[in-house]
Amino acid sequence: MNAPVDPATLYPADLSPRRFEDFAHVPGPLPARSRTLRTIRFLADPRKAINQLAEAYGPVFRRQDTFGWGVTLLGPEANELVLFNKDRIFSSKLGWDPVLELVFPNGLMMMDFDHHRMHRKTLSVAFKPAPMKAYLAGLNDGIARNIARWPADAPMKFYPAIKQLTLDLAAGSFLGLPWGPEAERINRAFTDMVLASVAIVRKPLPFTQMRRGVKGRAYLSRYFAAEIPNRRGREGDDFFTQFCNATDENGNLLTDQEIIDHMNFLMMAAHDTLTSSITSLVYYLGKNPEWQAKLTEEVDGVRARHGDSLPFDALGELELVEMAFKEALRLIPPVPMIPRRAIKDFEFGGYRIPAGAGVGVNPMYTHMMPEHWPDPERFDPLRFTTQMSANRHKYAWVPFGGGAHMCLGLHFAYMQAKAFFFRLLSERRIVLPDNYEGDFRMVPIPRPKDGLPVSLPRR
Ligand code: HEM
Repeated sequence: MNAPVDPATLYPADLSPRRFEDFAHVPGPLPARSRTLRTIRFLADPRKAINQLAEAYGPVFRRQDTFGWGVTLLGPEANELVLFNKDRIFSSKLGWDPVLELVFPNGLMMMDFDHHRMHRKTLSVAFKPAPMKAYLAGLNDGIARNIARWPADAPMKFYPAIKQLTLDLAAGSFLGLPWGPEAERINRAFTDMVLASVAIVRKPLPFTQMRRGVKGRAYLSRYFAAEIPNRRGREGDDFFTQFCNATDENGNLLTDQEIIDHMNFLMMAAHDTLTSSITSLVYYLGKNPEWQAKLTEEVDGVRARHGDSLPFDALGELELVEMAFKEALRLIPPVPMIPRRAIKDFEFGGYRIPAGAGVGVNPMYTHMMPEHWPDPERFDPLRFTTQMSANRHKYAWVPFGGGAHMCLGLHFAYMQAKAFFFRLLSERRIVLPDNYEGDFRMVPIPRPKDGLPVSLPRR
């Protein structure tokens, strides 16, 4: 589409300060004997670890992980500074690259500033109302087909079932493919890539997850490269075909490699986040039957007015479903932590932070701050009425990030969640085992450790 960006024009030549001495003036833990061990401990329960660090050091603290030293900034003001990025202090690319570069290079999140803006605008064509309407038709069919196969008289594990369902749907809406052995292979390659992105061993050595991830990337890249010529110049109601024909403001098409990188990235960005958030809401509706009843009543009203297949124009009528989904995203945000890297010195909370610092903001922590979310553990979708939302800091709820990199697929996410709960609650009840308490592993993307046992009897 356009010439590759020369990093020298975007980033200062020397972004070195990532040593302890550069952060000695910021509160926080001392250097660990083993950075890897410290990272493993942190990743085992990041919610607990962040709470402990915040309690010990306050809302700005230095931190050390496998990539070196940086700072964590907590709270809505920090989110606004970093995500809105008014003064172009923070690079998303340099923040995400250490995690994603080997398996998902050159996705939108790994681009900055004008280069990013241009690509984002080009891809936006695939998120306009006309293609979204077409995706919804596919989602409605796929969801109905899948749910019909779920047992009504025996317990099942919800998480693997919704993961499979989301992949099935993605084969249609992302790739324009029917579900089958090819989609299954894509799924495996792709799952390996996601796991590799958080692997502790960062080199693709034999038998490591990183190696499997790099191989998965090679497989998917070959698949896309072979398919691109068939999609150019064709119409199609899937993201892949849309990207093959999208043009930038100068009328240029994306190159094959750009399409491959955007597709790999898009599938990663969409898949586990949707799986995670729908699972969380199923869990909270199981725990809160009174809310389940309210949502079911709303769904019944929409069905009475529009029939069994949810039309695009009726999405706005599922108001309670939307508020409940937002509340689930608050309690268990699919992207619990968002990384950036400072490309200029900056100040926050009274501390001067040098250019080069890794900077993390933390939706998971912000979403539980009692000063913004009274009784934060309680599931209460009414926090998201228009009035309640208007009275809250704009960056107190950031499951989709904010600013230039705010999730491009958020309307797709709402749409799929609504289509799913519309169908599920039309037909089934959600019943959790007696006294069940969910336990979610928060990284890389939250999921229930036990797969979430659930019964879905017919209504
Ligand atoms: C509940 C589901 C989802 C959540 C919670 C979520 C969350 C996020 C977050 C937090 C970011 C910004 C990260 C950052 O600033 O560094 C992001 C970016 C992105 N998401 Fe989502 N996402 C979801 C679903 C989706 C879906 C379904 C798609 C595609 C259909 C998608 C596509 C993207 C893309 C392309 C970006 C990069 C945007 C950019 O850098 O300009 N996401 N998402």
